[in-house]
Amino acid sequence: MADSAPPALRLSRLAKRFGGVQALDGVDLEVAAGEIHGLVGENGCGKSTLIKLVAGVHEPDPGSVIELAGERFARLDPATAKAMGVQVIYQDLSLFPNLTVAENVAFDLALEGLARPARRRRMRAIAAETLARLGFALPLEARVEDLAIGERQIVAIARGLAARARILFMDEPTASLTRAEVRRLEAVVRRLASQGIAIVFVSHRLDEIVELADRVTVLRDGRKVGTFAAGELDPRRIGELMTGLVIEQRVQARSLADAPPALEVEGLERRGEFGPVSFSIRAGEVLGLGGLLGAGRTELALCLFGMTRPDAGTVRLAGKPLPPGSPAAAIRAGLAYLSEDRLALGLVLRQSVEKNLVLASLDRLADRFGWIAPARRRALARDWVERLKVKLGSLDQPVQELSGGNQQRIVLGKWLATEPKVLILDSPTVGVDVANKQAIHELVRALARQGMAILLISDEVGELWSTCDRVLVMRGGRITGELVPEEGRERALEDLVYA
Ligand SMILES: Nc1ncnc2c1ncn2[C@@H]1O[C@H](COP(=O)(O)OP(=O)(O)OP(=O)(O)O)[C@@H](O)[C@H]1O
Ligand SMILES: [Mg+2]
Repeated sequence: MADSAPPALRLSRLAKRFGGVQALDGVDLEVAAGEIHGLVGENGCGKSTLIKLVAGVHEPDPGSVIELAGERFARLDPATAKAMGVQVIYQDLSLFPNLTVAENVAFDLALEGLARPARRRRMRAIAAETLARLGFALPLEARVEDLAIGERQIVAIARGLAARARILFMDEPTASLTRAEVRRLEAVVRRLASQGIAIVFVSHRLDEIVELADRVTVLRDGRKVGTFAAGELDPRRIGELMTGLVIEQRVQARSLADAPPALEVEGLERRGEFGPVSFSIRAGEVLGLGGLLGAGRTELALCLFGMTRPDAGTVRLAGKPLPPGSPAAAIRAGLAYLSEDRLALGLVLRQSVEKNLVLASLDRLADRFGWIAPARRRALARDWVERLKVKLGSLDQPVQELSGGNQQRIVLGKWLATEPKVLILDSPTVGVDVANKQAIHELVRALARQGMAILLISDEVGELWSTCDRVLVMRGGRITGELVPEEGRERALEDLVYA
């Protein structure tokens, strides 16, 4: 019966050029009502651009056709797209941080006609109902800026749902969710699909795509490689289709028993958050920190970096005590910290790639009169763009024009450029494609070989296992285990993390 119904979405020869970059190049795609369609490809291959064309944010190049439920459009504007039931959950979430949860969830619904108290009640009711559908409880009157990043994600998803989507695009909705939250989200996505909503799901977690999607479309450099039944794919095969390479993860752990300690942590504690914890990282060592969201890893990292004060305990860097509660002192002593919430904290989006890359290294670049030679700045920025293989037009381009995964690499480069003795990386490859993830792991290994001590916080067991020399697991604020990676023994870490 459904055979005669038009697909929820049909794209023909979809193309988009930005200046010198052909972001999309003649893509054909069909998504049926009730289908969960995975969209994958390397950073910068055009996934978000495809979504923005259907949502009416950008105008497609002439010759492109977008068909929604049988209606043909050469271009769309945001209002028409919404009226046609197109809803998008963007990578950067596009929430209003100073508004409440309820206001954000109900944002797209026309409630202007109602008086203020009635409107508030209505918003709260909508938000409560939508969150209940998602299976999440959040304080409706909390400001979004006070929520954890995983919770903000939920608000963004709820907003899309509340606005009666017919086709829902999710641009990396799970990048910052815990495993349990991902499971719950997957259940919600399946339920929405069974109600006839078409879902287009972008993710760099390929295992998740294989499990969730009915079909998967692979893009490479703005072109479609193909659309495949998910049953014919596994993560390795998708990675191969995306990149043309077979990607192998191998254990690289070395023993560093003779190296001097770079960071020594003794009895460090913040009551109610974590601790007491004691550990040390040797010069040249990559120490992993695994665990689930809420295990206290980020809280520990913030405290090490001086963003919060410990209730007890000491931290020594290269043998010298680190004054508590001072990020400036931590940076001076040679500590750098790539935070988990880097899109909000790490970049000045309107500023150029070069400015962002050198931002944390200005002291080091200046001569004794405080003068920074433009050529030195540029050379530093160019060096990191090359080392991190950032895909961009020019160093003068505003960071906001880069794809999500490339923005991510700019923040990483910014901190690496400070050449720290000890580097804390909180979830550095979230949103980075498989090939570039691998490249970042190799870079981390290379920095360690040059003597940098690295604390790598990650939710990905595979990433910890293949990149670290040693892995600690945290749970309930305490260190509950320590493992040395061995080929084929990844399960041991999974068991500890998900125990
Ligand atoms: N507004 C813009 N101005 C200039 N170039 C842009 C703009 N938006 C996107 N691009 C470029 O188009 C290309 C495709 O970007 P897009 O954001 O679609 O990639 P993506 O597949 O979503 O990548 P990621 O996985 O990193 O999010 C990139 O080269 C990007 O720099
Ligand atoms: Mg994107």
